[in-house]
Amino acid sequence: MAQTTDFKTDAIPAGLTTTQAPFIEQAQRNGELYIHQPYELYSEENHLAWQRLFARMQDRWHRYANEYFLKGIESLCFNPDRVPRLSDVNEFLCPLTGFKAKPVSGYVPAYLFFDCLRNREFPTTITIRRSDRLDYLPEPDIFHDIAGHVPMHTDKAFADALVRFGDCARTAAELVKSVPESDQAHVLASIIRAMARFFWFTIEFGLMNSKDGLKVYGSGLLSSYGEIEHCIESPKVQRYPIQLKWVINQGFEIDHYQPLLFYVESFDHLFELVDELETWMKAGKLDNVAPGEPVVSEADLASFMKA
Ligand SMILES: [Fe+2]
Repeated sequence: MAQTTDFKTDAIPAGLTTTQAPFIEQAQRNGELYIHQPYELYSEENHLAWQRLFARMQDRWHRYANEYFLKGIESLCFNPDRVPRLSDVNEFLCPLTGFKAKPVSGYVPAYLFFDCLRNREFPTTITIRRSDRLDYLPEPDIFHDIAGHVPMHTDKAFADALVRFGDCARTAAELVKSVPESDQAHVLASIIRAMARFFWFTIEFGLMNSKDGLKVYGSGLLSSYGEIEHCIESPKVQRYPIQLKWVINQGFEIDHYQPLLFYVESFDHLFELVDELETWMKAGKLDNVAPGEPVVSEADLASFMKA
């Protein structure tokens, strides 16, 4: 595991803007994945981006988000005008479920990501999008991670399901050791693809049934001003009760609103599904899931092989 970076920030130009942050570039050049949050580097423009993003979501969250998210966001006491300090967030979060936001410099290879979840750590991007480009961006940013994901981590049942997901990655890494070497890459890529699809259609884009109709709990939806409304209101979106056999074989594209979404009944239901995912994995039922998106990278494969 990489050491936490502690280089001095005095000489680094200010600004922690997505794809334009000298501090992040330097951390990446140094091979530092786990970093600290150099809070003094946020520019006024960065804080303005947070303020605008946070303000415009209020009404939509109250209309479309699930009750656990709304409770969570209240208990985290965000300052609506300033980018959150992760240490402050953790002070509120950790006593509730043991989860912590852990700052990272960029993409976390799949196994390391899931293993962080197993340890109740959430790899968190510290950069923020530009204040004049609030809508779609392909990279996660601190608004997606802290306002979209972290409020869900205040709920015990949801947090337990995430940890269970991390257990599944551990199981996959163990299982693949007993597969003949010539089949290892194929089997592992298939299992990672199944896990990534399941994660996508639940943690990132999941809906939940409630007495008031479908509500949003997926973080990709909770952090999107346009899609949080579209996913509930649009007649163009297909919404089905989740089925494991469907989700693990269903590809997805990340660059447009999702046309197909699945809903769970509760987070206990989600936990049972993650359990079932592991049972299927052990039975070899994830070894040949449908090809297609997402593509499993060499870095993701290697992260499981080295585990
Ligand atoms: Fe995400």
